[in-house]
Amino acid sequence: MIITFATQKGGAGKTTLAIAFANYLCEVSQRKIKAYDFDFQKSFFNKWKEDEYSELPKLYEVELVGDDEEEQPFADLEKIIGLKESEAIYLFDLAGTLDQKYSDLLIYSDFIIIPFEYSDVSVKSTLVFKNLLGLLESEAERIFIRSKYDKGYKYLNQKEMDIEISKYGTLIESPVYKRNCLQSINTRKLTYEQRYAIKKSFNEIIEQISEALQIAL
Ligand SMILES: Nc1ncnc2c1ncn2[C@@H]1O[C@H](COP(=O)(O)OP(=O)(O)OP(=O)(O)O)[C@@H](O)[C@H]1O
Ligand SMILES: [Mg+2]
Repeated sequence: MIITFATQKGGAGKTTLAIAFANYLCEVSQRKIKAYDFDFQKSFFNKWKEDEYSELPKLYEVELVGDDEEEQPFADLEKIIGLKESEAIYLFDLAGTLDQKYSDLLIYSDFIIIPFEYSDVSVKSTLVFKNLLGLLESEAERIFIRSKYDKGYKYLNQKEMDIEISKYGTLIESPVYKRNCLQSINTRKLTYEQRYAIKKSFNEIIEQISEALQIAL
């Protein structure tokens, strides 16, 4: 199964949520988890490397997908289909830019998790990304998740945006709130506070995935 964290809106929370989701899945699922960092900034991979100094056990492998065409495993459709049909869960973290090299992955992922915020820039960017998935005729089920949500703030465009988004995929009801604890995430363990910050939203995502595939994660 392939689950991809993507949107070309930079800083939306893709990497943070991808790491938190990988860690959380390791706690709640028996399936093998592997992450691929497909971002030239290598944020997920570098964090995972840094965590090698940790005393906590390694939870999963993270592989860097290079820029070099020769070592470009996802130019090969067979490889993508292999991952898709596997019992294991493959998580992809993409860059905050659009690139031709992401096309096949965006088309063939089982799920694309799209973090978004309600600022005007983020709303526009999210809609552009949704349109891109449409143009690519992506097979993936779209899962939209409110990221860095500020409880005390009245988002004027929230209602309209929620209606629009819900036409194109599932909108996760529970937001991931803006929380400082998520800024110090590592790839080995969720702290109690971090788990509390993501638990409700991730349980909804897992339920959505299990329902769509009719399997238990
Ligand atoms: N829920 C949250 N609460 C507070 N800070 C957050 C939250 N989610 C992410 N951040 C912070 O926001 C910044 C951007 O997050 P992140 O790197 O995960 O976004 P991204 O979408 O992967 O960015 P890029 O497009 O550059 O890859 C980071 O400093 C991260 O710590
Ligand atoms: Mg990132």
